[in-house]
Amino acid sequence: MRDWISYWDSDHPIYVNARHFDVHYANIADDIVRLLPGQQARVLDYGCGEALHADRIAANCATLHLCEAAPAVRTRLKERFGRTANIAVTTPEDVAAMEPGSLDLIVANSLIQYLKRDELVKLLKTWRRLLAPGGALVLADVISPKQSAIADALSLLRFAASNGFLTAAFIGLVKTTLSDYRKLRAELGLTTYDEAEMLKLLSEAGYDAARLRPNLGHNQGRMAFRAQKNAAIAN
Ligand SMILES: C[S@@+](CC[C@H](N)C(=O)[O-])C[C@H]1O[C@@H](n2cnc3c(N)ncnc32)[C@H](O)[C@@H]1O
Repeated sequence: MRDWISYWDSDHPIYVNARHFDVHYANIADDIVRLLPGQQARVLDYGCGEALHADRIAANCATLHLCEAAPAVRTRLKERFGRTANIAVTTPEDVAAMEPGSLDLIVANSLIQYLKRDELVKLLKTWRRLLAPGGALVLADVISPKQSAIADALSLLRFAASNGFLTAAFIGLVKTTLSDYRKLRAELGLTTYDEAEMLKLLSEAGYDAARLRPNLGHNQGRMAFRAQKNAAIAN
């Protein structure tokens, strides 16, 4: 396995059991619902993963685009949501071809650590073009260089303890440590940003941005940012 998309496309052990899988995506969906500007919102969840509870988001907005690069994940998304009228499962190429100004909210949760910095810069440009006036981009679960794998593991264990899957989480952490994730992390690395660096990158890409608290999901050692198009800068 040579890249992160192939990893996410594979049968990986990141979700330690069905309970973890379910509460993880329920949490993320509920957090995205809280970000919705209203029932009329046109929303994009970029790098959505399995998005198990995306129907909760779709019930509270006009349209929900689920963008995922991993083909097998996309197939499952289509099986899950093919009959939900206002959910569209899309590829990154589909998103790049969308009409300018056609989205009110773009969320990328736990995505940008898997992108090279220049890939993120390119996506920031695409997303900026797609945002309607007043629209917002939320980048969440951003890892700072100071955040350790141990802090991530402890956060998962706390989440597991409060959701009844602590034993499975211990076993899962051991499996992940022995798995391709660990090898890929050593080989490809994860892209990290500190707060000032992320705000600078967003500003250079033509956004007015600020830290958003709390982060989406359970890991409050990671960061979220809310950004809007800086109207003073031409497209
Ligand atoms: C850690 S998972 C996060 C999934 C979900 N957003 C969540 O919060 O649970 C990262 C997801 O991003 C997808 N991904 C990675 N690179 C991508 C890219 N360039 N474009 C779209 N999706 C991508 C992966 O396939 C994977 O499903």
